Amino acid sequence: MKVQFTETVVRDAQQSLIATRMPFSDFEDILETMDNAGYHSIECWGGATFDSCLRFLDEDPWERLRKIKAICKKTPLQMLLRGQNILGYKHYPDDVVRLFVRKSAENGMDIFRIFDALNDFRNIEVAVDETLKCGKHAQGCICYTTSPVHTVEKYAEMGKELEKMGVNSICIKDMAGICGPQEAYDLVKALKASVKVPIYFHTHHTTGLGPMTYLKAIEAGLDGIDTAISPMAGGTSQPATETMKYALEQLGYETDLDSAALKKIADHFAPIKDRFIKEGTLNPKSMGIRTDILEYQLPGGMFSNMLKQMTDMKAQDKFEEALAEIPNVRKDLGYPPLVTPMSQLVGTQAVNNVLFGKYKNVTKDTKAYLRGEYGRAPGEVNKDLISQFWKDDEIITCRFADTLEPVFEKTKAELGDKARSDEDVLSYISFPQVAEKFFAAREEKESNTVNYTIEKKED
Ligand code: CO
Repeated sequence: MKVQFTETVVRDAQQSLIATRMPFSDFEDILETMDNAGYHSIECWGGATFDSCLRFLDEDPWERLRKIKAICKKTPLQMLLRGQNILGYKHYPDDVVRLFVRKSAENGMDIFRIFDALNDFRNIEVAVDETLKCGKHAQGCICYTTSPVHTVEKYAEMGKELEKMGVNSICIKDMAGICGPQEAYDLVKALKASVKVPIYFHTHHTTGLGPMTYLKAIEAGLDGIDTAISPMAGGTSQPATETMKYALEQLGYETDLDSAALKKIADHFAPIKDRFIKEGTLNPKSMGIRTDILEYQLPGGMFSNMLKQMTDMKAQDKFEEALAEIPNVRKDLGYPPLVTPMSQLVGTQAVNNVLFGKYKNVTKDTKAYLRGEYGRAPGEVNKDLISQFWKDDEIITCRFADTLEPVFEKTKAELGDKARSDEDVLSYISFPQVAEKFFAAREEKESNTVNYTIEKKED
């Protein structure tokens, strides 16, 4: 049996370890080797990379994608797409979602891994449909969480629903690294019995369970795993590519990975990692194991965000209380999986409940959630809580994007020649202020270059 590997070093690994601060120049020279290493796919775009390129790295994310594609001609490129949220935090109208997918495909994307934070698949339907129309690979995600309403049977039903939608494969997305080996085994067995499409597993090494979870999932018939090359593996990142290859081959599984290429890739990223540690971008703490996450069942990022939030408010003495409030908020909200943007929403509400009294200070996001703007909750939402803020006829039961007007053409007209392409318009719609600043800086950089050339001529 063969196990496929998706390399995450230039997307999730660097997003998890160094807050997505890796510039293209750090990996440009190793891409050709990566293309020849035998990976099933290279995850290289989407998630936070798009925002980070524009905001911190002074890079056009679309250009980065084109440059990667120009070098990686053999291995499919893969991205993470937040369904109707694209790469942002709110729902966008369908015209934007469709064009975003189309432009990503045109610029070189091959595999679209698409998820909705609530597993409300109405919110990924349009992105999946457009991916398929572009002739690309649509991978539907099941966000993994634990709660009384998240049973193996329920996950198997989700798998069937995704397959009916036409996805080419399914990914179990364990963003917090909390899925244990037995849970993974049962989950993959149940999915394999329910669907025909290949199943992939995505986890993080945060709790130390990762490699064991992968192994048991593979024993249950899993098709592929997400790993990161060793210098950028472990901790909040993925399990290491070389370790998994070694263990799996010893157990008689086949992989297409080439050891010599992996060695080159590891040698390339080792000094880059050292530089990030030296600069303070990579906190060695992120490389360790955190078992408290198993107790609280929270993604590591959410844990540190809450701690920072409370420390800033000089209320760190109530941190334990806030952690204990999370299960209550989750129950009231119908057990949403704790993934972006739900992790932020639930975390902030739990902090507010502890500091100001239960639902005395309800955030705008929580109110929008109660109205149904994020989609259908997995379980039942506290009705008294909803009626505190919304009348029955204000509640949204349809897909929220159905209430949104198209915005692409209108935005394009407003931007005029500030945007040089449809890709620019999409960057602007996703991150308006950041994109505007990026466009202005680009303009200035180019006019400086022109002036310099003219001065040179006059010499
Ligand atoms: Co991840």
